[in-house]
Amino acid sequence: MNTELLNHKLSEPEFLLKKDWIIRQIEFKLKMIDLELSTKHNRTIMQKVEHRIKDASSIARKLIKKGYKITFENADEKLNDIIGIRVVCLYRDDIYSIADLLKQQKDFTLIKEKDYIKNPKKSGYQSLHLIFDVPLIYKEATETQRVEIQLRTVAMDFWAGVDNQICYKKNPAKLKTAELALKNYSTEISRMDKQMMELRKNAEL
Ligand code: GTP
Ligand code: MG
Repeated sequence: MNTELLNHKLSEPEFLLKKDWIIRQIEFKLKMIDLELSTKHNRTIMQKVEHRIKDASSIARKLIKKGYKITFENADEKLNDIIGIRVVCLYRDDIYSIADLLKQQKDFTLIKEKDYIKNPKKSGYQSLHLIFDVPLIYKEATETQRVEIQLRTVAMDFWAGVDNQICYKKNPAKLKTAELALKNYSTEISRMDKQMMELRKNAEL
């Protein structure tokens, strides 16, 4: 299958409606979690919630990278991140509070957890990734949709944004200096995140 055909399949109303439905379910769930935590701690928790549906060319690229044929079925079944949700908050510990509440949801099944905060990627990338199966019920049928939820601080989001423009998935040969700099900034950001969290705790928030 070529990318154009895949693109056509990925633009079908039923496919898009189902993805949209799941995104909304998760966003409502996140609103409840935000309300619960902000009430409990008496401060704002989530700074930003974003979502995206992976486009056909990125899907095709990833299927090839993983050694699968470019088919609609493989796209829907083999990839974890066709639906991506990103939650950004101020403090590192809030990430784990949100993650805990997500894991407590009876209708969400945790498939995989990747803690790139405790173990940053080689690039210096930090975030907590949770992969869930989320049910979609229509008439008698329940089907599950897979989603990747990325949780990060504002500082981690800043880093990932810059890295995304300059280094990530770009030609590595030309980028040694930038890569090294970003790796150092990642360490600085990690230190700053911890210090900001201490500041907040000392202010008894
Ligand atoms: P991808 O093929 O990049 O999606 O990786 P993966 O499916 O093996 O999963 P992984 O957990 O490594 O990364 C998933 C997502 O995290 C990516 O699509 C990016 O949004 C983000 N990410 C991972 N590594 C990096 C990185 O080094 N820099 C930036 N900016 N983002 C990253
Ligand atoms: Mg990805």
